[in-house]
Amino acid sequence: MAPRRPLICGNWKMHRTVGQALELATAVRNALGGLSREVEVAIAPPFTALYAVARRLQGSPLRLAAQDCFWEPEGAFTGEVSAEMLRDVGCTYVILGHSERRQHFGELDAAVGLKARAALRAGLCPIICIGETLAERDAGETYGRLKSQLEGALAGFSPDMVAGLVVAYEPVWAIGTGRVATPQQAQEAHAFVRQHLHQHFGEVAQSVRIQYGGSVKPDNAAGLLRQPDIDGALVGGASLQAESFLDIIRACRPPDREAT
Ligand code: 13P
Repeated sequence: MAPRRPLICGNWKMHRTVGQALELATAVRNALGGLSREVEVAIAPPFTALYAVARRLQGSPLRLAAQDCFWEPEGAFTGEVSAEMLRDVGCTYVILGHSERRQHFGELDAAVGLKARAALRAGLCPIICIGETLAERDAGETYGRLKSQLEGALAGFSPDMVAGLVVAYEPVWAIGTGRVATPQQAQEAHAFVRQHLHQHFGEVAQSVRIQYGGSVKPDNAAGLLRQPDIDGALVGGASLQAESFLDIIRACRPPDREAT
């Protein structure tokens, strides 16, 4: 089986106007150079900036991601944006089930599953976010939580569908807190996720990329990204500055390539 190509995605959350987004996207695009041969890189600006940024990225290997979508292709759903619309505007990826959506907007696993199906139908690659809270970790419920989130979101999925998605393990206690999971904690959770996928969907689990997210910074990225089951990162705060985002991308290269 081909090695998994790491995916580093910057989740800009609710930050950046169109002008600011163009500036940041351009800086990342211009500095990417040969880095994108070994690492796939994506940025997820807010909806309002997607079209302008997509045009700016034409011809560049830098990929575009959205931060959410709705599960219907079109209709009377005020305020929603469909996966087809995101594909039309130039997105490759869509982040789904982020813990901030679960926490602030009551998003449930079943909705994440519907959105992921819609994304796949539209030709997008869903990035499905899962992760436990601090209370769940302290109570020893981390794996139970990950299992129920995966089962809820991926109910009825075929191995082919699973082959088309990315999972992001984002422990809620590490998001925006500066408290990163240790490489060992993250690796254990990622290995659990891969094993769970293997149990339910078979061999395809070996090719599914599992990203880590939660306070990834240039100084902790390499330790995380060298773990065998960590296939990239979903980066929040540190993706809002081109230099720190690029340093994280550089940390993704195998050690023998770091000098180049
Ligand atoms: P931070 O990197 O700011 O902790 O955010 C992580 C995240 O939520 C990415 O989706």
